[in-house]
Amino acid sequence: MAILHPDELHAFIRDTCAQLGSSETEQSLVADQLVGANLAGHDSHGIGMLPAYVAGALRGELTVNSHPTIVQDLGVLSVLDGNMGFGQVNGYEAMEHAIERARTHGAAIVGLRNSYHIGRIGHWGEQCAAAGLASLHFVNVCGHAPLVAPYGGREARFVTNPICLAIPGGPERNGRPTPRVMLDMATSKIAAGKARVAMEEGRPVPPDTMIDGAGRATTDPSGLFANPREGALLALGDHKGSGLAIMAELLGAALIGGPTIQPGNKRAAGRIINNMLSIVIDPAATGAATGFAAEADAYLRYVQSSDLREGFSEVLLPGDPENRSREARADGIPVDVETIKLLRSAATSAGLADADQRLV
Ligand SMILES: NC(=O)c1ccc[n+]([C@@H]2O[C@H](COP(=O)([O-])OP(=O)(O)OC[C@H]3O[C@@H](n4cnc5c(N)ncnc54)[C@H](O)[C@@H]3O)[C@@H](O)[C@H]2O)c1
Repeated sequence: MAILHPDELHAFIRDTCAQLGSSETEQSLVADQLVGANLAGHDSHGIGMLPAYVAGALRGELTVNSHPTIVQDLGVLSVLDGNMGFGQVNGYEAMEHAIERARTHGAAIVGLRNSYHIGRIGHWGEQCAAAGLASLHFVNVCGHAPLVAPYGGREARFVTNPICLAIPGGPERNGRPTPRVMLDMATSKIAAGKARVAMEEGRPVPPDTMIDGAGRATTDPSGLFANPREGALLALGDHKGSGLAIMAELLGAALIGGPTIQPGNKRAAGRIINNMLSIVIDPAATGAATGFAAEADAYLRYVQSSDLREGFSEVLLPGDPENRSREARADGIPVDVETIKLLRSAATSAGLADADQRLV
């Protein structure tokens, strides 16, 4: 395991994207989100995604220097097409659009369809919170085969469809307000990336997170990455998480004219499409005004005052683990040797001449 400074990783991503032809703004947006995910402790959505982006761009699936286009505009409700551009550009520009509309109308509903991977959804909740706005995001994942079984099924029918809900009012970080609380989660019990890491390290996945091809509980993740695939991840919370994943598919994609994962839509291994429905609300427009922050704080203090169960030392709020990770990783992010190899190889394939001398 190497410990690498966030600035070094940021520069490596920017330089690799530059080789793909990305503008400086695009380079920075991609690097900000990927390194930001590692800082937040979500390595599955961090720098390790770069090889998939490079491969997608070289295969012609991901279009560099693309911007979302507005395909439907009713003011308070609009839909953007991401044109299979970088999700980091699509997500950023879609949220800037949503923020502007929410300031005008008090709230905004914005669909973003046909984007390449939009990464850690909390990044978009944070962008809205930095503007003082609350937000809800429903996302489907498609473009490749499903990975997660619906409750009662033994065949996968969706991916890890994330949901993010963010409340503004946190302290400033790097001069920008942060969410007071943010729940940002996959709807599967564990992320696919975590199962992949377990397989690569020869470790089992936690009990009750996966089934094998016959629908029996297993802790062996290898079937999930076999060809043909055997088994599936389980949705969180049994029927409830399975229901949330289905709703994310319908709200995040079907409702806004984006593709769901049903087999009538084109699939290819390694292709990552995200669609996202965002609902952004200005607390100043609800009539709660400044009372909102005081009431939220009083409530959150009440939540955290709960007597503890055996084995627990505190009640954390959603978003606390990520904030702690940011503090712990501010000067160094642990990156495993295999990921460094994959990053160098991807950067070399993009044309970065000194990739093998970097990340040491
Ligand atoms: N773009 C995509 O296609 C895609 C797909 C799936 C997931 N994702 C992203 O993957 C990331 C990881 O998702 P995950 O489900 O593995 O996250 P997770 O399980 O680590 O955390 C989920 C949520 O629970 C909160 N939490 C964690 N521990 C807690 C505790 N002890 N007490 C209180 N709250 C706690 C976290 O703050 C977070 O809000 C997310 O950022 C998500 O947006 C993206």
